[in-house]
Amino acid sequence: MKIGVIGLGYWGPNLVRNFLSHKDVKKVIACDIRENRLQAIKEKFPAAELSKNYNNLIEGDSDIIVIATPVDTHHTLAKKSLEAGKHIWVEKPFTSTSAEAEELIEIAEKKSLKIFVDHTFIYNGAVRKIKELIEKKELGNIIYFDSERINLGLFQRDVNVVWDLAPHDLSIMTYLCEHRKVKALAANGIANFNGKENLAHICIYFEDNCFAHFHVNWVSPVKIRRIIIGGDKKMLVYDDMENFEKIKVYDSGVEFNSAEKIHEALVQYRIGDMFSPKVNQTEALALGAQEFISAIKENRTPLTSGKDGLAVVRLLEAADISLANMGKIVEFDSMLVE
Ligand SMILES: NC(=O)c1ccc[n+]([C@@H]2O[C@H](COP(=O)([O-])OP(=O)(O)OC[C@H]3O[C@@H](n4cnc5c(N)ncnc54)[C@H](O)[C@@H]3O)[C@@H](O)[C@H]2O)c1
Repeated sequence: MKIGVIGLGYWGPNLVRNFLSHKDVKKVIACDIRENRLQAIKEKFPAAELSKNYNNLIEGDSDIIVIATPVDTHHTLAKKSLEAGKHIWVEKPFTSTSAEAEELIEIAEKKSLKIFVDHTFIYNGAVRKIKELIEKKELGNIIYFDSERINLGLFQRDVNVVWDLAPHDLSIMTYLCEHRKVKALAANGIANFNGKENLAHICIYFEDNCFAHFHVNWVSPVKIRRIIIGGDKKMLVYDDMENFEKIKVYDSGVEFNSAEKIHEALVQYRIGDMFSPKVNQTEALALGAQEFISAIKENRTPLTSGKDGLAVVRLLEAADISLANMGKIVEFDSMLVE
């Protein structure tokens, strides 16, 4: 397969490296409008071909066009690529609006092309392990999902912190809580510097009494990447900053008794053992590239498709509406997390 990568800023070089090392990839053409980025790729990855013109790349002989440019350019580049008959890999967040995402999905369906949205964490060993534990009902019924992704920077010029950081956690949540119905969303936050929110809290209410909370922040003195998942049987902490023991499963919980006498305890707390399951350390991007190439070869929908990208964009749009109205509830017409 031949891969064209557009955008060689912070993230693009990781994509070039991973596609170059895939056994089915014969050629990688790397494209950026900035000469210094092309030069950097030439020095680091001499096997990659270079292009300064994305139109030539899209019209060329690549099978897949990988779009790793700022989000406000995703739709234009993705649409051109689909119209030129290419499968597309689009970085998170998929598009700037749900209407753009819907249009791309429609074009791809009509032309029998595949869309892969890079929700990288879905290919992360820890997230895969959590999915396995949830499917095996180790945690019981999920009652809450609480996530924190905070650090100092990197401020983005085109999007707020919600569109930059929350796609990671929202995609993890939609993957882990699939088939649940989202009832409503509320978001609070603040823009202290350039008119774009640099700190936000997003709350999501599900129809089945499950709740999710996300804290994203570019102005934190410490870096935290942590998700707590509460089940009615066990609870789990996923700390991505840990080198080992990224996941800890706690046999802890709360039981409510229907006490017959007023002085009898109503609540019983259970604090049991903790175990830390082994996690696959393979780089998530390598597994993502493998998944997309396999999906194209097998003519099936990839694990993180355009529809998954659209689901996250809908939540981001709702978060923006709520942020602009100081936390006003945005109701969903039973949005199904698929
Ligand atoms: N999956 C992840 O974990 C992850 C991590 C970081 C960034 N991203 C995503 O990757 C995308 C890029 O982010 P970044 O931080 O690398 O941005 P960046 O600004 O560092 O790089 C973007 C590059 O695109 C180039 N570019 C812009 N328009 C172009 C065009 N028309 N033709 C050719 N090149 C063009 C710019 O010159 C720049 O070098 C964003 O969507 C971001 O959200 C994903």
